[in-house]
Amino acid sequence: MAGEAPGDLFEAALAVRQRAHAPYSRFKVGSALRGAGGGIYAACNVENAAYPQGQCAEASAIGMMVAAGETRIAEVVVIGGEPGDGLLCTPCGGCRQRLREFAGPDTVIHVCGPDGTRARFTMAELLPASFGPDNLGF
Ligand code: THU
Repeated sequence: MAGEAPGDLFEAALAVRQRAHAPYSRFKVGSALRGAGGGIYAACNVENAAYPQGQCAEASAIGMMVAAGETRIAEVVVIGGEPGDGLLCTPCGGCRQRLREFAGPDTVIHVCGPDGTRARFTMAELLPASFGPDNLGF
């Protein structure tokens, strides 16, 4: 594995993960984004009794970034799972597309457990041959 997740993003994601509302899956996720302007935006998953209405941690973090006036993602940390489970909490398909809206192909997504960094991927690795704003002339 090439490199640890940045400590400030890791700590922000770990802290907010504690606040996850995940009574149904019991799978708590924290995500922290660094905007291109340097701001850090961290959020957790928020589930709902009407299951499809739940929201991933990444989606909420993106919303916070945009609400703060930033529209480019420099790097991402996602923390999910339990210590030692060896599994990768990679962003779901929908969140890969949400991240793609504001990230470049080389933007790094650090995939972590609460015990530390497990893997890193670029945006293009997670969502190859993607459709994005450029397809619409933006
Ligand atoms: N989840 C996230 O918030 N982010 C991910 O990257 C993967 C999955 C959430 C959605 C749901 O609340 C729970 O984890 C189990 O799928």
